[in-house]
Amino acid sequence: MVRFGAAADKKRPIIIDTDPGVDDAVAILLALASPELDIRAMTVVAGNVELPVAAANALRICALAGRADIPVHAGADRPLRRPLATATAFHGSDGLGGVPFPQPAGAIADGHAADVIVDIVRRSSQPVSICALGPLTNVALALERAPDVADAIAEIVLMGGSWRAGGNVTPAAEFNIWCDPDAAGAVLASGARIVVLPLDATHQALATPERVAALAAAEGSLADVAARLLGHGKVWADRRGMAGPAAHDSTVIGYVLSSELFDGRHVHVAVETASELTRGVTVVDWWGRTGQPANARVITQLDAERFFKLLIDRLGRL
Ligand code: RIB
Ligand code: CA
Repeated sequence: MVRFGAAADKKRPIIIDTDPGVDDAVAILLALASPELDIRAMTVVAGNVELPVAAANALRICALAGRADIPVHAGADRPLRRPLATATAFHGSDGLGGVPFPQPAGAIADGHAADVIVDIVRRSSQPVSICALGPLTNVALALERAPDVADAIAEIVLMGGSWRAGGNVTPAAEFNIWCDPDAAGAVLASGARIVVLPLDATHQALATPERVAALAAAEGSLADVAARLLGHGKVWADRRGMAGPAAHDSTVIGYVLSSELFDGRHVHVAVETASELTRGVTVVDWWGRTGQPANARVITQLDAERFFKLLIDRLGRL
């Protein structure tokens, strides 16, 4: 797989596709705190919350960070072929865990997210990476409308799926893939260069009380808000015997910033779309049993200490 690192004199262009979402908010703030990244746009998809709430949250996150200059485009308000099922039980009805945010500073930009993704990728002089933090509906629509962009995209780095970590929305499936399994299957079949951060990886990125406290103690003006977001879901994690809530979506930005902290393998991944019981299960062919060509780099290891050092350093300076 060709990889496009951030050359010394060039920022790395990215599009963030997101369903904010508490952990999306942490990931977006990490991206905003990282000068190596050139955030060309944020595109919003229904997932954790309904589209209007997600779109307003994207604007509010940008307003909090003083980045109302970043264009925010709304996209799909439901999965390709299924009704929307949100995750407000975890993220709260406001999608931001009740953490106070300013009102949006700007308005949603014109243009459907899928069309904007295609346009930015086609026009960019440098290959653009897509950081997919939610259900893959917008990304699938973009690839459906313009299959040519599959090869033009530097890579799609997505949080989703599970190899051996079980599920978080059903016993077997992870939320982003489960929410729109048809979109996930289409993206994986598109031929684009894909990196998958499944629960096997994100469950190594746990926001322990120590890590949350270290962020809260940082100097930056947004450290306290970032810490509250990072620590959201502690009760949920405690009930599951986890040392802290997983910083799921931040691992996508962490990968784009420092892929050397992550390890995985190029394998074939397929998505279950037919069965209700196993809807959204990602079938990871780790041992090449199917003979199918690899279509994704599935990450199964990350250096959690160095990942959180990066996360806390950056968010602590916002
Ligand atoms: O399963 C975790 C994923 O689902 C994260 O992207 C979280 O924001 C939710 O969308
Ligand atoms: Ca998300």
